[in-house]
Formats: sequence, C-alpha cells, structure tokens
Amino acid sequence: MLKGKTIVLGITGGIAAYKAADLASKLTQAGAKVEVIMTAAATKFITPLTLRNITHRPVVTDMFELASEWSVEHVALAEAADVVVVAPATANSIARLAAGIADDMLGTVLLATKAPVVIAPAMNDLMYSNKVTQENIKKLKARGFNFIEPEYGRLASGKMGKGRLPDTPKIIEAIEHALGQKRDFEGKTIVVTAGGTREPIDPVRHIGNRSSGKMGYALAEAARDRGAKVTLISANVSLDAPADVTIIKAPTALEMKQAVGEAVKKADVLIMAAAVADYQLEVIAKNKIKKESGRNLTLNLVRTPDILGEVKGHFIRVGFAAESENLVANAKKKLTDKKLDLIIANDITKTDSGFDANTNRVVIINKKGKAEELPLMSKREVADKILDKVKELIK
Ligand code: CTP
Repeated sequence: MLKGKTIVLGITGGIAAYKAADLASKLTQAGAKVEVIMTAAATKFITPLTLRNITHRPVVTDMFELASEWSVEHVALAEAADVVVVAPATANSIARLAAGIADDMLGTVLLATKAPVVIAPAMNDLMYSNKVTQENIKKLKARGFNFIEPEYGRLASGKMGKGRLPDTPKIIEAIEHALGQKRDFEGKTIVVTAGGTREPIDPVRHIGNRSSGKMGYALAEAARDRGAKVTLISANVSLDAPADVTIIKAPTALEMKQAVGEAVKKADVLIMAAAVADYQLEVIAKNKIKKESGRNLTLNLVRTPDILGEVKGHFIRVGFAAESENLVANAKKKLTDKKLDLIIANDITKTDSGFDANTNRVVIINKKGKAEELPLMSKREVADKILDKVKELIK
C-alpha cells in the first residue's frame, strides 16, 4: 500500500524527533517517496542531513530556501502528497495547525493539502492533557484530521506519563489507514438525522428519550470524510457540530418531519438515526402546569407522523431500530412496514452499545432480509460499515 505513495513527513521540534528517522527509514524501505519537512525547532533535535540520507530526497527546512525541485510553488508538496504525517507533533505545532498559521513550510502544506493528515502528538504529559491542547485536538478531529494517541511511558522529563510517540509500526498502521480512506461518496448528497426529539408538555417540561446523537453524528462525519455533501438534521444533542456539514436544528418530531421533507428533495440517501418520539402532547400547555396535592396528572398523547415511513421521493432509505428484545425480528418488521432499503438493528440492552455509548453492536439487515451481525466496534466504525452497504445500493 505504501509503494509509490508520496508521503510528506512533517517533523516538529520535540525530543521524539529522532524517532522520525526510523519512521522515514521504514517508509522509504516500503517503497514510499518520503518528502521531509522540518520545522526550525526540529533541526535542533535532528539534522536535515540524516533525513536526506535516509530518504534520498531533499529535505525542506525553510519556506524561502526550497530545494530546486519544489521551487515552482510552495504548495507543490501539498498537492503531491498522498498523505501528510506530522510525527512528532508538539503542542505548539498542533496549536498552530488549529489556528491555521502558515508562516513556515509545514504550516503552509498542512493548510493547503487536500490529502488525509495523520498527526502523532508527543509531548510532556501535562502539556498533552492541558485543556488548550485537548481543545485544539478536538477541533482538528472535527475537521477530519486523524490523530494517533500518544502512549503512556517514560517521558523526556524522566517521569511516567502519557505523551510518548508510539512506535513506528503503529504510526505506519495509521498512515495506511489514512491512505485507504475512500472518497467514494464524492458527488452524493446524504441526509442524516440524529439525536432524540423532545415533545414539549409546557414551557418547562418535555417528553424525551435517551438518544445522545453520537451514532448520527458519526455517520455524518464518516459520509463527509468519504466525500459526500452532508445535511445533518439534529434533534437534541450535546455534541460539537462537525465541520463542513450543513446542520439543521429540529428539536421536535414535527420540526424534524418538515426539515427532512425539505432536505431529501436533493438527496441520494436518507439515514434516520434520530430517535423520534412516537407521541406528542395533544395540547401543549401555554403556562407551566402547577402541581396540586392529591391530584393525578394525565397527559393526553397523540401519535407523531412516521417521518421515515411517510417521506416521499426517490432515494435510499436507511432506518434504525433500537430494540431490547427480538432484535432481528422486530427490525425486519420495521424494514418492511417502512419500505426501507436497509435497517440497522441496535441492541440497547448492554451498556457498551446503543444509547450514549461510544461503541455499538448492530445487525445490518437488507431488503431481502439478509442480516449481518457486526461485532462491538466504535460508532465511527459502524458508520463506515453502514456506508459501505449504502454504497453497494447506489451502484
Ligand atoms: N422514525 C421516524 N418517525 C417516527 C418514529 C421513528 O422516522 N415518528 C424512524 C426512526 O428514526 C428510526 C425508525 O423510524 O429510523 C424507527 O422505527 P420505529 O418503528 O418508529 O421505532 P420505535 O419508535 O422504536 O418503534 P417501536 O416503539 O414500535 O419499537
């Protein structure tokens, strides 16, 4: 997979910079063309000459003294890259990247490239756990950057902590993963719904559900990363908005129905991951309902529209079924009733899958009733598996 690939390796100024030599060596041995860019600080830890001898390529250390091969324009490397890797990435370089600072070659390439970017942070554990660093990482992740978690171990300070650059094989694995990132939804428009609706009772209270929106958000991010134009119709969540995704807020079932009806007009795919309330109040109290001692309160609930079952148009329809029993049988019934192309049956009986978990355990069932059970995996991985199935249907 690495053979013939252009890998831009950014080295920043941390003690782990020496390990980048091993990485450059292994990548070169695997047949990749490794273009090294070193920040000024990195050259204090390891010499450009070392990297040049390892990669047999010129090493760029300053934007204004480019090697002749790259002197055409400073974004040439950004365009040539199949993947850009920053290893090690210091807290400072991550902060600069998050802020879009491009006053050196590495910053420029990172800002200009359309290739996937892999970042391997390595620093003092306190700098890594610092809120600012964590916020920067979160921000960059939301923009589609791939991060490799630093490892726990002995740090340069002599103390144990989380901040070590992982070993070369681990970084190479992440690079290969990034190279394999498909842009197979380029030109497609996908509408995803996420989160749980809240049906108001009075100005203070509502009927809600436990959906966190994590599965829907993971789907929106995965579809975006694979090149789709994504509209995310979001009910109530406490998640950060993903970058480069159109977000429409739809707190109630009725608002979601309206938003979905509008968004699907231009869509190739609708994925309803939202937990839509099946009932709403017949009458929403205008004023706060007051308790009265000795009196029971009865709320009159009426059905909400079945958004997925009723929405008109030609697009691929994917639904979710959150079940606590008879997982596959219940999901299959929903698949037929709502005339879906796919249904994702979600086991909500365990704590590591379903509501609010970061992982999920699902069965994907197609129109013919073929059920594929997936093992426990992250919601992002589940999202990619679902999109793989959708892709087959688009073909
Ligand atoms: N859905 C919808 N509109 C609703 C309710 C659900 O579009 N009013 C969608 C959900 O987004 C999900 C699928 O339909 O994709 C779930 O089907 P549904 O039968 O409504 O699930 P539950 O509400 O869990 O049904 P039940 O109470 O029968 O288990």
